[in-house]
Amino acid sequence: MNSDGVTVIGLGPMGRAMVRTFLAAGRPTTVWNRTPGRADELAAGAVRAATAAEAVAASELVVLSLTDYRAMYEILGGAGSALAGRVVVNLSSDTPDATRAAAAWLADRGAELVAGGVLASADVVGTEAASVLYSGPRASFEAHEATLAVLGRPEYLGSDHGLAQLHYQAQLQVFLTTLAAYLQSFAMFTAAGIPAREFLRRAAPGEDVAALLPDAARAVDEGEYPGELANVLMMGATADHVVGANRSAGLDTALPDAIKSLYDRAIARGHGRDGWASLTEVIRKP
Ligand SMILES: NC(=O)c1ccc[n+]([C@@H]2O[C@H](COP(=O)([O-])OP(=O)(O)OC[C@H]3O[C@@H](n4cnc5c(N)ncnc54)[C@H](OP(=O)(O)O)[C@@H]3O)[C@@H](O)[C@H]2O)c1
Repeated sequence: MNSDGVTVIGLGPMGRAMVRTFLAAGRPTTVWNRTPGRADELAAGAVRAATAAEAVAASELVVLSLTDYRAMYEILGGAGSALAGRVVVNLSSDTPDATRAAAAWLADRGAELVAGGVLASADVVGTEAASVLYSGPRASFEAHEATLAVLGRPEYLGSDHGLAQLHYQAQLQVFLTTLAAYLQSFAMFTAAGIPAREFLRRAAPGEDVAALLPDAARAVDEGEYPGELANVLMMGATADHVVGANRSAGLDTALPDAIKSLYDRAIARGHGRDGWASLTEVIRKP
């Protein structure tokens, strides 16, 4: 076993970027992937294990970069006693509950789980722009922090295994929803014969929304939703106009319908004169 090396299992775009980064930092790196051909695309230097068990046996630190946690069970289920004494750092996406269940499953096999979420695209892994969230046993994280730091700035969140994915999915929720919202607006423009890029001339991402968020977070924390400036009745009427604009352009309305539904239900629960952050009450108690 290589005590200063690392094993990477999962050679999708992210796993391959991790392997390249570990190798560039001089870490002995062992790799395994379900589809063996994906290792062909790696730079020379990585050791290719013949089986997942061999890959796990090669290093104390085993990094997983898989589509989800289900893939971990399929791969490590056959690793047998090789798992004992390993720190498995699972940087795959999944739910907080899935990470907690995986921690128990690995503990039964003598391994520790450190769960993580990579806040970077594959092309910036290993650069200053990359950061990675971690949660799980502090001692296991700290024992491998120097190696993990090669991938991106590590941020340790606490011993509850679910924390990293809670933070990660909360961020991904904003990311995915924002991307989808832009695509919906691009579609509105192109349906009207205007190029999508024209939309960005007046609606650059971010700043107007960012300015509203501190007050909204305070309202959510305090459970009080002052509505003097913009209330749910007014915003809900606008949400209805957004649906109408999409429908008359012949577009899919699933996304604007979902937003309108939150406003409709907030109004039905008596939040019409409250601020829009009161939609949180509907989200909390669906
Ligand atoms: N790509 C990014 O920019 C990015 C950014 C941040 C986070 N992430 C996260 O990083 C993780 C990896 O992402 P990715 O982009 O590299 O691609 P991906 O397509 O999500 O992951 C592919 C890897 O998972 C393996 N896999 C999937 N199901 C499997 C199963 N049932 N059994 C065995 N292996 C299985 C694939 O093996 P095969 O090659 O055999 O199919 C491949 O190695 C994901 O959780 C993703 O959310 C990705």
